[in-house]
Amino acid sequence: MKVEDVKVIGIVGAGIMGRGIAQTCAQAGYTVHLIDVKEELLEKALKLIKEGPFGLATLVEKGRLREEQIEEIMRKIETTTDYNIFCKDVDIIIEAVPEDAELKKKVFKILDEKCPEKTVFTSNTSGIMITELATAVKRKEKFAGMHWFNPAPVMPLIEVVRGSLTSEETLKLVIDLSRRLGKTPIEVKDGPGFYTTRFIAAYLFEAIRIFEEGIADIQSIDEMTKLAFRHPMGPFELMDLIGLDTALHIGEYIYGLTGEPQYKPPLTLRRLVLSGYLGDPKYKVGSVGGWRTYYGGSQR
Ligand SMILES: NC(=O)c1ccc[n+]([C@@H]2O[C@H](COP(=O)([O-])OP(=O)(O)OC[C@H]3O[C@@H](n4cnc5c(N)ncnc54)[C@H](O)[C@@H]3O)[C@@H](O)[C@H]2O)c1
Repeated sequence: MKVEDVKVIGIVGAGIMGRGIAQTCAQAGYTVHLIDVKEELLEKALKLIKEGPFGLATLVEKGRLREEQIEEIMRKIETTTDYNIFCKDVDIIIEAVPEDAELKKKVFKILDEKCPEKTVFTSNTSGIMITELATAVKRKEKFAGMHWFNPAPVMPLIEVVRGSLTSEETLKLVIDLSRRLGKTPIEVKDGPGFYTTRFIAAYLFEAIRIFEEGIADIQSIDEMTKLAFRHPMGPFELMDLIGLDTALHIGEYIYGLTGEPQYKPPLTLRRLVLSGYLGDPKYKVGSVGGWRTYYGGSQR
């Protein structure tokens, strides 16, 4: 399939990433099919696409979109909880369910059975090897990694991952589509965490260890990171944005495959996730809070 043939993009999972990707694709003029496990999650996602922190209304406020374009873009997003409806006529899939290899493989198995033969599959996994996810489907040559960044409508990079059986045609399609969506695609080979997630996991976990040792509190670490390195946000703010459960799962996966100590998730992170602290509830539906809520910014 060529990029000109892509009309319908199917996005699996309407969480932090799925809804941002759906917004970006609809803004670029594509018809979007969006699926999640419950109607209420889809309703919440549509509301956040319209009125959330990086949603369409904020673009109107900034003068980048006209008010009347909001409804036009929203009409391009069709939601369902039924895979039979979702898979109909879909040209390319972007999977964005939680970072759990078994769950993703289960989802791809269903997609492989229900989607047309032409449909190309991509995963927005943060770091599960694409070659591993592709074991769940027959169309292994039509499977690639399409790793977006958070917030999806804003961040410019797409890390395009070549699995060991990904065809040139599939890779080209994902690269061309990324450009049509206004992003900058950069190709990498497959491996746990690819480039970006391996790099960020080691950085985030080191910040937690420094906090655990009592060297500095959360507020100070975030502040120093911004002032010293000109990062737009500190490591704890970043984890509250991306989701603590996602950070934990990424660490477990990369550490499991490499055994390198810098990827071992710190216990404090695990404790927060087990307690329901999955990140800032503004972004993470169902979370009771993040690092700042639990530690109030200063205590250990
Ligand atoms: N959060 C980030 O900053 C970030 C950045 C880049 C990549 N990612 C990756 O994107 C993926 C999604 O992460 P997220 O942060 O959006 O997670 P999330 O928990 O916010 O959203 C996941 C959504 O998938 C839905 N889901 C679960 N099982 C499903 C199924 N069988 N069918 C359809 N939907 C299902 C959930 O109900 C939920 O709404 C993960 O692989 C993650 O590693 C996340």
